[in-house]
Amino acid sequence: MALRLGDIAPDFKAETTEGPVAFHEWIGDGWAVLFSHPKDFTPVCTTELGEVARLKPEFDKRGVKVIGLSVDPADSHKAWASDIKETQGHALNFPLIADADRKVSGLYDMIHPNANDTLTVRSVFVIDANKKIRLVITYPASTGRNFEEILRSIDSLQLTDKHKVATPVNWKHGEDVIIVPALSDEDAKKRFPDGWKTVKPYLRIVPQPK
Ligand code: BEZ
Repeated sequence: MALRLGDIAPDFKAETTEGPVAFHEWIGDGWAVLFSHPKDFTPVCTTELGEVARLKPEFDKRGVKVIGLSVDPADSHKAWASDIKETQGHALNFPLIADADRKVSGLYDMIHPNANDTLTVRSVFVIDANKKIRLVITYPASTGRNFEEILRSIDSLQLTDKHKVATPVNWKHGEDVIIVPALSDEDAKKRFPDGWKTVKPYLRIVPQPK
């Protein structure tokens, strides 16, 4: 059965470009993004991995480790890395799982046989410090992902955890947010002593907490 939000991310051991990884242990006390790409030495994947390398400091700031995966072996990942640096201007600075036996892609349902029966699709799993899956995204091979959107989603998830706020449509960091419906007005007064704007009883707007 496909993994769903709130499920514990399956643990595994795998070979990566940075040596063997035991997944839960590797995540440690922080968050993680596990993402698959279809194949090494392909154009869209090359641009994506360069972009993740460029954004790595942004993931670090949020306490999020990133790890990629495809069904290619580690020596192929390593050979491809020099192309990523040469063409994208950013060297790989995070591990890539070599899932040649498809063990991890099977666990995470990253191969969708009606799209392609051997290659992984572009899956993204955002996993929190409790190892719970908090976000799942699936893109086809021909569509490169927007990793700024993944950072934006992580910001939203972490704001919800810390401050009991949700983020509205097209929200960007620094813009107003919404008090979660589960928080009563009485409890909201404790969290937001400066008050909020009630558009409807269920739509209460506050500035983004710092
Ligand atoms: C790519 O990364 O460009 C790609 C990979 C597999 C199928 C189509 C495109």
